[in-house]
Amino acid sequence: MLAQFLKDSRYTVILTGAGMSTESGLPDFRSSRNGMWNKKDPSKVASVEALNKNVEEFIEFYYKRISSLKECQPNEGHLILAEWEKAGIIQSIITQNVDGFHEQAGSRNVAELHGTLRFVHCQICKKRYPCETYIRKNYACECGGVLRPSVVLFGEMLPEDAFMRAAEESEKAELFIVLGSSLTVTPANQFPLIAKQNGAKLVIVNMEPTEFDVYADLVIHNRKIGEVLREVSLAL
Ligand code: APR
Repeated sequence: MLAQFLKDSRYTVILTGAGMSTESGLPDFRSSRNGMWNKKDPSKVASVEALNKNVEEFIEFYYKRISSLKECQPNEGHLILAEWEKAGIIQSIITQNVDGFHEQAGSRNVAELHGTLRFVHCQICKKRYPCETYIRKNYACECGGVLRPSVVLFGEMLPEDAFMRAAEESEKAELFIVLGSSLTVTPANQFPLIAKQNGAKLVIVNMEPTEFDVYADLVIHNRKIGEVLREVSLAL
C-alpha cells in the first residue's frame, strides 16, 4: 500500500524524528524503553535556562551527545531515502533530528527544523565552529563567550528559513510520510496536519502509537523503519 502511495504521488515529503536514527545507535527521546527524556529532564540540560544557569551540566550533556554522534553513522533507512530523492520518488525531507545523517547519507533537500549538532556557535559573537571543538573540550570562543551547539533549545524559536521551507513543502505534498516521531513537539507536529489540510495522504511509520494516528491514511506500528523502507523499496 505504501509502495502504491509512493508510485501515485507526484510530490512526496518525509518528516523524520529521532526514531529514524535509533538504528544508527543514537537513543531517541521518548521511546518507552530507553528514551533520553526518561532519564533526564530536558529543561535541565537542553533549554536556554540550562545554558544560562546550569552551564556545566549543559556542556556535559552536549559533550556526550556530540561524542556519541561521532561514533555513529547514517543507517540503511537514511541511505534509502537519499536514493529515493535521487530517483525522484520523494522530493524533500523535513527533519527534527540534529545528527546531520540525512545529508551525510546523500539527501540534498533537507530542512533541519531543530538546527544541527554538527556545529557550535558563540553565545555572544555568534561565530561558528565545527562540533569537534566540543570534543576537544574547548567551550570558549576567541571573544570569551560560551560556545553552544547550533541546535534549537527548548524555549528558543526555530530557524526561520527551515520553518518556512517545511511549511511550503507540507503545503505542496500529495503524500506526507512521518518516520520515527512521537509527534509530541510543536510546531514540527503541525506539518502533517498542514499536508492533510492541503489534500495530502498521510502515512505514519512509528514503533509506538502517536496522537496523530487518527488523521493518517496508513499507520505502521511495531516495525523498524529500516525494514519497512527496504521492503517498500523492493516493491517500487
Ligand atoms: N523504527 C520505528 N520507530 C521508531 C524506531 C525505529 N527503529 N525507533 C524509535 N522509534 C519511535 C519511538 O517509538 C518514538 O515514538 O520513534 C519515536 C521517536 O519519538 P521521540 O523520541 O519523541 O523523538 P522526536 O519525535 O523526534 O522528538 C521531537 O523533541 O526533544 C525534542 O528536539 C527534540 O527533535 C526532538 C523533538
